[in-house]
Amino acid sequence: MALIQQCLRVCNDVAPSWAGGQEDRQEFCVREGLCAAVEQSFAWAVGQRPVIESHGAMLPSALATVCPKRLALAVSFCFRKSVERSVAALHGQRVLLGVSGGIAAYKAAELVRRLRDAGAEVRVVMTAGAQRFITALTLQALSGNPVRTSLWDEAAEAAMGHIELARWATRILIAPASADLLARLALGRADDLLTTLCLASEAPLAVAPAMNRVMWAHPATQAHVGTLRARGVEILGPASGEQACGETGEGRMSEPQVLVDALSATLVPQRLVSKRILVSAGPTFEDIDPVRFLGNRSSGRMGFALAAAAAKAGAEVTLVAGPVRLATPSGVSRIDVRSAAQMREALLSALPGQHAYIGAAAVADYRPAEIATQKIKKGDGPSSLVLERTVDILAEIASHPQRPACLLGFAAETHDVETYARGKLEAKRLDGIAANRVGVPGQGFDADENALKLYWNGGQREYATASKAAIAAGLIDWVADWLERK
Ligand SMILES: Cc1cc2nc3c(=O)[nH]c(=O)nc-3n(C[C@H](O)[C@H](O)[C@H](O)COP(=O)(O)O)c2cc1C
Repeated sequence: MALIQQCLRVCNDVAPSWAGGQEDRQEFCVREGLCAAVEQSFAWAVGQRPVIESHGAMLPSALATVCPKRLALAVSFCFRKSVERSVAALHGQRVLLGVSGGIAAYKAAELVRRLRDAGAEVRVVMTAGAQRFITALTLQALSGNPVRTSLWDEAAEAAMGHIELARWATRILIAPASADLLARLALGRADDLLTTLCLASEAPLAVAPAMNRVMWAHPATQAHVGTLRARGVEILGPASGEQACGETGEGRMSEPQVLVDALSATLVPQRLVSKRILVSAGPTFEDIDPVRFLGNRSSGRMGFALAAAAAKAGAEVTLVAGPVRLATPSGVSRIDVRSAAQMREALLSALPGQHAYIGAAAVADYRPAEIATQKIKKGDGPSSLVLERTVDILAEIASHPQRPACLLGFAAETHDVETYARGKLEAKRLDGIAANRVGVPGQGFDADENALKLYWNGGQREYATASKAAIAAGLIDWVADWLERK
């Protein structure tokens, strides 16, 4: 009976998405947020037919022919898997969920449920704008606590006043975070209950921006996000895809389960205390002349997320960063470099005494054979560029006398991901390789979310689409496992 109730509960979460064609892709992130085992369970339930491509219409029709007992078992398994992953992490956490005025406010309802499923106690604060999109009553019923909407509420101030509420929270999550709210937070304004609480609380703050893609890309919004990030606020998303306004692009609120995973990932057990971890991140720029260079699209976000996750797990972290505009994660020592040669030099000099090296940088394979000392003029420029190979840093570290006990590399491929990744694992004598498919919108280079597979000799693990922070926490867990086994 309990099994069927669990099954119905998950079906209730998933079913509404089947009705809305446009939202199908988005809601199936619920599935994508789970693990490979989930896909296998569904495949098994529908008689071994592949479900991975079943966005929208195919899955419901496949379900029409499915054996109900098998489906109940599969759904129950999936449900347990997803909840188990975060239950321990958020247990005992007091999450203050701020909801601001955006079309994604309706997702706050599901978010409250998922936070509670993950073991957190939840109190909701809504802006005036948020109440135009979803009622306080819904969030009150789901959170099991009164929802606060105003700073000027005498009854609420007599019970849990705003300062007490600020002290009560162990985490603050604002989802969705509107452009207006981000601006007010960046300015340190305290003109409503939510912004006042953020100023008055010492709890870590995370925001999940959600807005039209043009609003998100606007320099004003980006400047505010930069200010918040530099101040240590965690920016979760936004994701890319179809938007409520009919446009497609970056600005959708990350899915509720992705947010819960990201929140869980920040509460990491201290598994790397007394370990030294070296991380490389970002692109390298190979100069052609004083104004031009060869570069690549790596944003450095995955490497920075790994450095942050390792530091949160208690490690002493050195981060060698290519040219990126990212704030240094707290507790991390950073060395900035520009070219592949500089990156090699910095990594080799930091190598002695490291327990693990994580090579997340996209180091140039080639550089111009000569760097012009003056700007090459249009008229007298060469019609082709002569390139030479750079040193393979990862391979050099793998055969170095001071090779760390754990070497984790990255492979960004556009096709045949496993073949290339396993080839690199063998050829460079790495301990693990994290492979992701690039060229997929919203994933890989320059995106906030990622999905990858980790391969090592005799094993593999899949990390389904999630924030880079959540994926980094998973990879760091694997590094800790590896070092414990050594
Ligand atoms: C129908 C509608 C949808 C909106 N959706 C968004 C949105 O998704 N993201 C956003 O930043 N602003 C959106 N806005 C604008 C905000 O609601 C507006 O900036 C408001 O002042 C936000 O206030 P708050 O941040 O205090 O909730 C929307 C406005 C309307 C009328």
